Amino acid sequence: MFGGCSDGATEDDSDLRAGERKIVGEAVAYPADTTLAPRVSELAKSQKARREAAWKAVAKILKPISVREKTAKNDGKVVKLPLFRTWYGKDDMDRVFAKAYGDLTPADRKAGRPLTADELKKAYTWNVTSAASWSDADYIARVKQITDAQAAQGLGGNTRVSYSPGFASHLLANYAPVTRCMPKLDTFGLDAKPASATNFAPCFAAEFPADAALIKASWWRSDFGMKLPRHTTSAASLKARLAGTLDQGGWGAGEGDELAPGVNDIYTVTLSDGANFRMAGLHLVTKELRDWMWITLFWSDDPDTDFGADRPAAIKALGAPWDHYKMEVIVAYDEQDPDPRGGYTGTLGDALAAVHPGVGGPSWGSNPYIERGPKNAQTNCIGCHQHSHNQAFSSESILADEAKFPKAGRTKLRQVFPADYSWSVFHGPELLAGVLDARVRAYP
Ligand code: HEC
Repeated sequence: MFGGCSDGATEDDSDLRAGERKIVGEAVAYPADTTLAPRVSELAKSQKARREAAWKAVAKILKPISVREKTAKNDGKVVKLPLFRTWYGKDDMDRVFAKAYGDLTPADRKAGRPLTADELKKAYTWNVTSAASWSDADYIARVKQITDAQAAQGLGGNTRVSYSPGFASHLLANYAPVTRCMPKLDTFGLDAKPASATNFAPCFAAEFPADAALIKASWWRSDFGMKLPRHTTSAASLKARLAGTLDQGGWGAGEGDELAPGVNDIYTVTLSDGANFRMAGLHLVTKELRDWMWITLFWSDDPDTDFGADRPAAIKALGAPWDHYKMEVIVAYDEQDPDPRGGYTGTLGDALAAVHPGVGGPSWGSNPYIERGPKNAQTNCIGCHQHSHNQAFSSESILADEAKFPKAGRTKLRQVFPADYSWSVFHGPELLAGVLDARVRAYP
């Protein structure tokens, strides 16, 4: 494990494989709301406006999508996956890049010519139909495994990180500047300044587009009677964690008891080898805002209180298990809403007041099932991710150094973000630049 917001759950993850991609079809784009970016200061000043925008983003990634293979049935119904479960994993990125880069002329490869939208489109189509080394018999056998809802959901594997087409295309098109940046990463210190007013990500020709989005999921094995720790985000628990008087400011092992939610209460998948996993937490980050919108969902046995109290009709209409997840959102390094309760009454207002630092203090948002270790219940996503190009850093090293990274790493220290806030580009375990670099080096 390479540090990071490691989840203490499974490290034995499996990407959606080539044959499964053929069943699922192409990844579906994140439908970005381009009216959000101009509203960024309004969102920063209003917890309520920000939560409403975030729930809308959540509804978009949960939208049910019919898979490409129409004979893939569960309980007699065509399989539908939540939109984000169609997104690309590291394996897809490698296959698509190998195809698109291999199809360039030697002169274009040598020049590092960016891949065009048309070239990428062709490679994505090829990726969906090729099934790589899978034989027809393998493919048919995999389709036949889809006998119930959990097996259908297992088509997407239990991958930790996946990327919207907007993220994938931008990264792949930028293979030349990204791979050429690898030896220079150490030169972007805290005092580095952006070369242009519109690009603070010097390892890319431009920042990611608005429809770039990515998720990180936390899967917990549910076989052999295995259980989940119970976490609460009540005002009392949050206060103690922020003060550092409980679990050294982390989430610890939760409230001390464990639960075994059933398949109707928590998103559950059955993989091709029969193993079952529960999804306890899900991060969603979208480039609808320049510094990204940071959203996190976590399962709760008490889903309608605090961060679940304002769950909108669009999510409720999806029914189980999505009515069991609570949500937090961050849009800036600092909190600018003058109302400690964020405009909410009841337990949501209480929880927000417990983490409100006063206007100008550091913002807050942390997932009990994903952020592990001391002080990681005191964080805000964006502060830690600003250092994401730095291969020597980890969540633990950042949180351990209060002098260098004050307020549990939440304050803004940089103006330049070589990886545009994504750890996946230059840092393990994803290290996507390494995937691209290996393909580039394979040609003379
Ligand atoms: C203290 C540091 C830290 C905090 C806080 C943190 N992360 Fe991360 N995050 C990491 C690291 C390191 C990785 C890469 C390693 C891994 O995946 O575990 C990562 C990976 C990710 C990824 C996938 C890979 C990528 O390109 O970034 C997403 C998405 C993500 N985090 C979202 C969030 C969200 C949303 C929050 C807040 C709710 C958050 N993170 C809080 C350090 C942090």
